[in-house]
Amino acid sequence: MSEKSRNIQPGTTASSPEFRITITEGGPYVVNGAPKLSQQTIKQDPEGNSWNYVEGKVFDCDEGAHLCRCGHSGNAPFCDGTHQTLPAGVLEETASFEPLIQHSELISGPTKSLLDNEKYCAYGRFCDAGERVWGEVQIGTVEHDALATRMAHHCPGGRLLIVDNQSKEIIEDTVEPALGLIEDPKIGASGPIMVQGGIEVISAEGKSYEIRTRQALCRCGSSSNKPFCDGSHASVKYRDGIN
Ligand code: FES
Repeated sequence: MSEKSRNIQPGTTASSPEFRITITEGGPYVVNGAPKLSQQTIKQDPEGNSWNYVEGKVFDCDEGAHLCRCGHSGNAPFCDGTHQTLPAGVLEETASFEPLIQHSELISGPTKSLLDNEKYCAYGRFCDAGERVWGEVQIGTVEHDALATRMAHHCPGGRLLIVDNQSKEIIEDTVEPALGLIEDPKIGASGPIMVQGGIEVISAEGKSYEIRTRQALCRCGSSSNKPFCDGSHASVKYRDGIN
């Protein structure tokens, strides 16, 4: 398939098609391409704002690995078949296949602007430093633009995108395909699978979601925007049980 016919978010560098995540109906994520899979713990700055990720345990993610998406596996991050005991339909996909920016709000600043689609909030809280990302982007100095860009680029779900006003292009770094299992000690919960580097996610019906640099896949089973995380892991206090 040519890059043109793939559904790629502007600014995103798609990974090679050997990297992909296929959703199974009522069951796990099937991962191809053997991307790196590691725990990523959210660390705070001195003010208590989410600031960076620190790598923890690294797992073998062999070709065709099955990752839990119901939140009940006793062998997380891998599937142990427990989803088969859940009521039918609880893992049904509800997310849109439309481009994320189609329903984004635009917050304009002097040199950079912010696109914000709240539906894709994975509650990583990387947007709270300084004047918060919405305020930082409206100031317009090099330092404040850099902070706004940093915060957007740490947003695990890809809710926040920075646009350069002059070129009108979305600014994204090119990152290696990788999967991160978010741990969020501040709220006492495990979070989504952070999918980085333009890995294609394919629905149980065989349809591709928009390919994006940063995506967050629900693994607690409680999101109302499946397969994507909507932050519900925070309220249900999801714990993956990995030590
Ligand atoms: S992991 Fe975030 S809503 Fe399920």
